[in-house]
Amino acid sequence: MKKWRQSLRLLPLFLAALALSGCGKEGVSALKPEGEVAKEQASLMLISLLIMIVVVLVVGFLFTYAMIKYRKRPGQEDYIPKQVEGNTKLELTWTIIPIILLCILAVPTISKTFALSDNNTSKKSDVLKIKVTGHQFWWEFEYPDQKITTAQDLYIPVGKKVEFDITSKDLIHAFWVPALGGKQDANPGQTNHLWLKADKEGTYKGRCAELCGSSHALMYFNVKAVSDKEFKHWVKDMKAGMKSAPDKDRVLTASAKQGEEVFKNNCMSCHAVGNKGGQIGPNLTNFADRDNIGGFEKHTKSEVKKWIKDPESIKPGAKMPKFGKKLTDDQINALADYLFTLSVKQ
Ligand code: CUA
Repeated sequence: MKKWRQSLRLLPLFLAALALSGCGKEGVSALKPEGEVAKEQASLMLISLLIMIVVVLVVGFLFTYAMIKYRKRPGQEDYIPKQVEGNTKLELTWTIIPIILLCILAVPTISKTFALSDNNTSKKSDVLKIKVTGHQFWWEFEYPDQKITTAQDLYIPVGKKVEFDITSKDLIHAFWVPALGGKQDANPGQTNHLWLKADKEGTYKGRCAELCGSSHALMYFNVKAVSDKEFKHWVKDMKAGMKSAPDKDRVLTASAKQGEEVFKNNCMSCHAVGNKGGQIGPNLTNFADRDNIGGFEKHTKSEVKKWIKDPESIKPGAKMPKFGKKLTDDQINALADYLFTLSVKQ
């Protein structure tokens, strides 16, 4: 009884831990599906959960019933019940029932597994193609038909089937947007397929679901589901941003102008703005429009400065070198000012 009371006292702690664990946090829960794929996957989870509950209840009932009915009663200390071995009827029963249950589970699971990873069922004009590439520890998104490359913030139109071709530049990651569905491995040298659809406008958190190094748990991205009209607008703006040279026709403050020079001399071998620059780090064409630094930190100048000085202070294991010693504080300030001018919003 005392032990019981002790465990009861731990209950509030357990509930608090559950609340803090982010179960059901908006945009992150697989149990709050916001799209066709996620809904089908949630229904699969529900079927298996229901079957398991029924099994637990039936087995629990039979077990309790047998324990009480056939318990040793006073005066039966030396009693040994009749010994039987093998009962064809019973053995058939407990072999056939699990087979039936497994079939009920297997048929929808297998058919949906194939259906949800099939990227070739719709007309080309009805779908949006996106190539996803996992890197340690960020996501690259390429829209091949629109000729757009971006990172971290993935824009998709609401209600449209989006087909993803998923791969990786380094090691195995996994692409997962809990509220919309998934997950699918991102393997180097191989392309895996997945399609998703969002029912409602909003920002959904995506994450990496395969242990891939020290910042695996920080490998977030944002999925921005917007109306078809807004999406077309974004594509137009991005295309314009991709085409024009980073410095063309833009009025910059003196500091941003200085930052642009710093960027050209130090950052462009890895980062591109528009079509100019390296492909090693994230493309920064619409950097100023993004939601987070590194996928999860606040999108502020002070965070970006911290990032430039020492990326690993925010994301352990990040491949970008520290610039805290190479650049002066002045240069880093100017660089941050420049980066926050990189917006494609018209
Ligand atoms: Cu990438 Cu875990």
